[in-house]
Amino acid sequence: MRTYLVTGGAGFIGSNYIHYMFEKYGEQIRIINVDALTYAGNLENLKDIEDRSNYTFVKADICDKEAINRIFTENEIDRVVHFAAESHVDRSIREPEVFIRTNVLGTAVLLNCAKAAWEKEDGSYKEDKRFLHVSTDEVYGSLDEDGGYFYETTPYAPHSPYSASKAGSDMLVKSYMDTYHFPANITNCSNNYGPFQFPEKLIPLIINNALSGKKLPVYGDGRNVRDWLYVMDHAKAIDMVMEKGRLFETYNIGGHNEKQNIEIIHMIIETLQEMLPDSDPRKAKVTKELITFVEDRKGHDRRYAIAPDKIKAEIGWEPETMFKEGIRKTIQWFFEHEEWMKHVTSGDYQKYYREMYRED
Ligand code: NAD
Ligand code: DAU
Repeated sequence: MRTYLVTGGAGFIGSNYIHYMFEKYGEQIRIINVDALTYAGNLENLKDIEDRSNYTFVKADICDKEAINRIFTENEIDRVVHFAAESHVDRSIREPEVFIRTNVLGTAVLLNCAKAAWEKEDGSYKEDKRFLHVSTDEVYGSLDEDGGYFYETTPYAPHSPYSASKAGSDMLVKSYMDTYHFPANITNCSNNYGPFQFPEKLIPLIINNALSGKKLPVYGDGRNVRDWLYVMDHAKAIDMVMEKGRLFETYNIGGHNEKQNIEIIHMIIETLQEMLPDSDPRKAKVTKELITFVEDRKGHDRRYAIAPDKIKAEIGWEPETMFKEGIRKTIQWFFEHEEWMKHVTSGDYQKYYREMYRED
């Protein structure tokens, strides 16, 4: 039975990944989830699996060397899947240091602990150990509107403190592979959407605001492009890279699904209109009149687009969920999880929202 150490498993992608893995492997694997439970971490995301005998939750900060070392000495870890990070660009613009701490220092601590646990006296590693570092396409910077894609060979050119800190963490993983022959892979993925996404990110924020009859804030001219991928397709890609990827390689993961932000917002409004029954009082309030253009994000990257050619050719992974279907599934999930939304938007979220969007 293989033991996975998942970091940041109480967040959006990490919790979807844990669900994916238990659905696929059942009792054949064991998962230890280490998460500091920041504002973005939520154990409600894992309620349905928390009692499994092959699942353990450890509340710890990945920068805490002792706590992370203890996990490695008390357990024979076979796989590390490293999601834990500060992940929101707008927050990084307001508070960069916390991003450097978690994303760079936290990754360094994790690499060191895994290396110490897996390295043999002769400098080689115990058999069948692997570390997968989950990263982002934002490390590649911004593309022109009229063409081009991010490839694994595209030079790094991060613009925000978030993407710079992720680029730093990628470089650390690369340095461990080059210097110590450390058994790792890096994946760089485009924008994810789906269940359990915290409503500071565009899609859940727009769904939540529209259902509450609140303004739908669009940064700048709304024509920035992102390449959207349904989160379960990302979870599957990570598992496939772990099982079939060549060690030491980077794989780009993307949805082949470029959309301008304003298109996304129109699609959400239209889909909500289709899905809400006429008897629902919220239906009349979900209109295009809610769209509000606001001040642009500082250093706002214009366009991201991944070329997922390598992962398709070498591993056979392709995005499976069409955007129209994925957005309906996501909205349906939010309809069925109103309590979840209430819980995550209570308290600190209100303060963040007022400050970020300058509302009184
Ligand atoms: P998220 O913000 O939803 O979750 C992050 C998780 O990490 C939370 O559970 C949080 O509690 C935990 N965490 C934060 N700091 C920690 C610390 N110091 N120690 C332990 N745990 C800590 O993020 P997400 O959107 O699920 O992203 C997960 C990973 O995927 C990140 O590394 C991110 O850079 C990467 N990524 C995200 C996207 C996307 O579209 N969301 C796309 C590509 C890559
Ligand atoms: O590309 C992968 C990245 O995608 C991940 O690495 C990040 O963790 C993740 O947060 C995401 O970053 P973005 O900055 O692209 O996502 P966000 O949802 O914050 O914004 C998507 C686009 O929508 C972006 O162009 C900014 C815009 N936007 C966002 C918000 C929150 C708005 O116009 N209005 C908003 O209120």
